[in-house]
Amino acid sequence: MVLFAQQAEQPLGARLYAGQQTLAGYIAGHETPLPETASRCVNCHVLAGSPRPASGSQKTVAFGPLLSAEGLKGLVPRRGGPPSRYDLHAFCELLKTGVDPAKVIIQRTMPRYKLDEPQCEALWMYITQPTP
Ligand code: HEC
Repeated sequence: MVLFAQQAEQPLGARLYAGQQTLAGYIAGHETPLPETASRCVNCHVLAGSPRPASGSQKTVAFGPLLSAEGLKGLVPRRGGPPSRYDLHAFCELLKTGVDPAKVIIQRTMPRYKLDEPQCEALWMYITQPTP
């Protein structure tokens, strides 16, 4: 009898988010990819609807904003720019270049990623899925 690993049943977006499937992340301006464990979204972001990790379990010092469908798709001012919202295209652009929908460049703490359309779309679907 064959037992499948649990992670194989998770959707691609969930695996990419948690780092079970590797994404190449870079610090802006650097050519060497970050260690796999450092580029996981889950290190720095909390998803709306998911429990906050217990204090003490965090290993990083810099935390990104909470990610939610409303927060990303809603028209809100970000980083001092005019109100803007994300769609799939803007989200992929941010991950690849660090430029947000209002054309403001995000901090270098947030890595830049080399990812293809299916990976980006899977992440977008995962992050913006309705919270239970
Ligand atoms: C090392 C920490 C770190 C990692 C890893 C990281 N982020 Fe971020 N992220 C940040 C920080 C910090 C910001 C806020 C940057 C700013 O406001 O200038 C951010 C901002 C964002 C934003 C913009 C939110 C907004 O409202 O404009 C999105 C979307 C995002 N991250 C998604 C991701 C995804 C998806 C991944 C994994 C592929 C990821 N992040 C990995 C730290 C991180």
